[in-house]
Order: sequence, then structure tokens, then C-alpha cells
Amino acid sequence: MDSPTIPLISRRDALIAGAATAAAVSSSAPAEAAAPKAAAAAGPRAKLSLTVNGQVHSLELDTRTTLLDALREHLHLSGTKKGCDHGQCGACTVIADGRRINSCLTLAVMHDGGQVTTIEGLGTPQNMHPLQAAFVRHDGYQCGYCTPGQICSAVAVLDEIKRGVPSHVSADLTARPLLSAEELRERMSGNICRCGAYSNIVDAITEVAGSRT
Ligand code: FES
Ligand code: FES
Repeated sequence: MDSPTIPLISRRDALIAGAATAAAVSSSAPAEAAAPKAAAAAGPRAKLSLTVNGQVHSLELDTRTTLLDALREHLHLSGTKKGCDHGQCGACTVIADGRRINSCLTLAVMHDGGQVTTIEGLGTPQNMHPLQAAFVRHDGYQCGYCTPGQICSAVAVLDEIKRGVPSHVSADLTARPLLSAEELRERMSGNICRCGAYSNIVDAITEVAGSRT
């Protein structure tokens, strides 16, 4: 009996055929269906001025652009990292008008005329900020992805303590906050490190805090 003929199709051929089918389907879709999508993609735009690391930038952005995307995609300051993009990890922390914020949770247009400091504005490899140097000395990182956010946050934390801003674990809300590990851990708790470098991060911040008091 003759055996049935089984056509031999390589995986590569199958992938090419699949891609061709998808392209054919999308190119035959009605033009009117694509139009609303295009309209939604091009949102309203606004002009704004941002002073980032001391340099003034004039931008015209889709009003839905987050500060994080404005920094990374439009100003090409890629030191600020996108982790969760949902305000949960702290990788995108920058200092805006003296306050640390999650740049993924705020729109760039809300900072028109404002001052933003990113990790690039704190120091350079040749001339590091004291906290950057302390992170290196204490191995306050492994992969380094969270580190720009950790350092921006730590800079603002030390300023908050200096200004007497209490935290959730401050026993006396009117007294000058302590530079205890408990205070530092609480204040840095919005900055997640998947490598678990927490104890070395606290050591680095403690060293700089100690040298300032
Ligand atoms: S990327 Fe902004 S908090 Fe995670
Ligand atoms: S050093 Fe890797 S996530 Fe913090």
C-alpha cells in the first residue's frame, strides 16, 4: 500500500508563511478602522520648559508623556531607569524642585518651568557625588539597575532629615529625626532592589550621613 505523502515544511517556512498571512490580514483591514487608532496615538501636544541638571530644555510633547519618558526618550538621559512604570519600584526616582518623586507617575507638563535633578546631575565617574562614591565603596549594588533611583532617593532623604521632616517611624514628630538604620530603611523603603543590596545601601548612606553631621 502506498504511504500517504506528507509535505515537508521547515520551521523557517512556517514562520515566513505565518508572517505573510498576518501582513496580508493587516493590510486588508479597512482604512477607517485604523484612523481612530492613529487619532488616539497622536494626542494633544504642549510646549514646556524643563531645567534638567541646570540646563534649560524647551520641549513640545504629547501631554500624556511622563516625566520619565521625557527624560529618557526626549532628552536622552537614560540614567533614570524604568522598572515597573507603575510607581512601585522607585527605579525612576528623580529630584523635582527639591522633592524626590517617581518620575513614571507624573506628567512632564506638570513640571513646566521646574527644576529636575537626575543621576547625571549629581556626579560623573571622574567626579562622583559623595553618595555615589559611598555606594561604590560599600558595594551598594549588584546589577546596578535600581542604583540611580536609590542614590537620588538617598540624596533627598538626607536633605529631608536635615530639614527635620519626620517619617513613619519617627518616635517624636517634633524632634530632629535620628540618622538610625531604622529611619533610613523606612525612608528608602520605596526603592526596591531585586539584588537585595539593602544592607550595603544603608551602610553607604550612613557613612555619608555621618560625615555630614
Ligand atoms: S518605574 Fe517608576 S516606580 Fe517603578
Ligand atoms: S542592584 Fe540590582 S536591582 Fe538593585
